[in-house]
Amino acid sequence: MRNRFKGKDYLAFKDMTKEEIEFITDLSLEFKKKWTAKEPHEYLKGQVWAALFEKNSTRTRNAFERAAADLGVKVVYLRPDEMQMTRGEPLKDTARILDRYFDGLFIRTFGHEIVEECSKWMQNPVINGLTALEHPTQGIADLMTIKEKKGDYRGLKMCYSGNLYNVAYTTMIFCATLGIHLSIACPEGIEPNHEILEETLRRAKQSGAIIEFTQDFDAALKDADIVYGMSQYSMGQSDEEIAFLKEAFKPYQITMEAMKKAKPDAIFMHCLPAHRGEEVTDEVMECAQSVIFDEGENRMHSIKAILAAVAN
Ligand code: CP
Repeated sequence: MRNRFKGKDYLAFKDMTKEEIEFITDLSLEFKKKWTAKEPHEYLKGQVWAALFEKNSTRTRNAFERAAADLGVKVVYLRPDEMQMTRGEPLKDTARILDRYFDGLFIRTFGHEIVEECSKWMQNPVINGLTALEHPTQGIADLMTIKEKKGDYRGLKMCYSGNLYNVAYTTMIFCATLGIHLSIACPEGIEPNHEILEETLRRAKQSGAIIEFTQDFDAALKDADIVYGMSQYSMGQSDEEIAFLKEAFKPYQITMEAMKKAKPDAIFMHCLPAHRGEEVTDEVMECAQSVIFDEGENRMHSIKAILAAVAN
């Protein structure tokens, strides 16, 4: 596929076609080969990108900084608390000013409308490093990991246990797009975002993927090739919401007993950070089926591919 991302924004899987998702995943695997072979790839030498993080990050920020360094891109890290935006300067002014200085913006923020607003006012590419709606750089790392460990996507079953939030939504879209059977184990009363659910079901109809929500954890685990753990709550949720979710998700903790209910060669994935003892046990995190550190490394290769693809 021709690179359709050049000069464009990278905001959400819900806006991407199957071909585009597969293109970036395959490009990420190519960048991983270059990294492994120690082959220089400073394809964007001379570019300067801004990184604006309104929430904490270990993987996304450092993966972006390392990916940028390998591509020859200088990164200017912006602290929101040091900028006028936290003193009321409108985002549309901030975005247009940043656009005059930088070749692109990598942003982690709260509402998805914030990245869409940046995209509206900036000519240069905007990459979404996580919003409440999606985590599309994580999604590519996850697909890379699945392809590396399982060879292909079609015919696989994933059991997902964790909060229905950004990572879940990106996962729902990619499973529906690529024909992965997704069984989401979650307590009664937890509803996904309606826009994402509609788009997921539309795509599932085309691909034939089964997308289901169940309170029956054992049924979700049965025959699963991938057990995906995710925090029971997310950054930005209130203390009250967190207390409710921790209680509601207790029966869905991923333990070694739970892993035994999946296929014997099932892999355990988690976007990290994990809360050991909450959504997953320490034993599962450290077990032979756990691929969490390969998945974490893949954040760097996938962000590199995204950056290389969208850069002008
Ligand atoms: N998975 C993920 O986004 O990790 P960070 O919050 O550390 O960036």
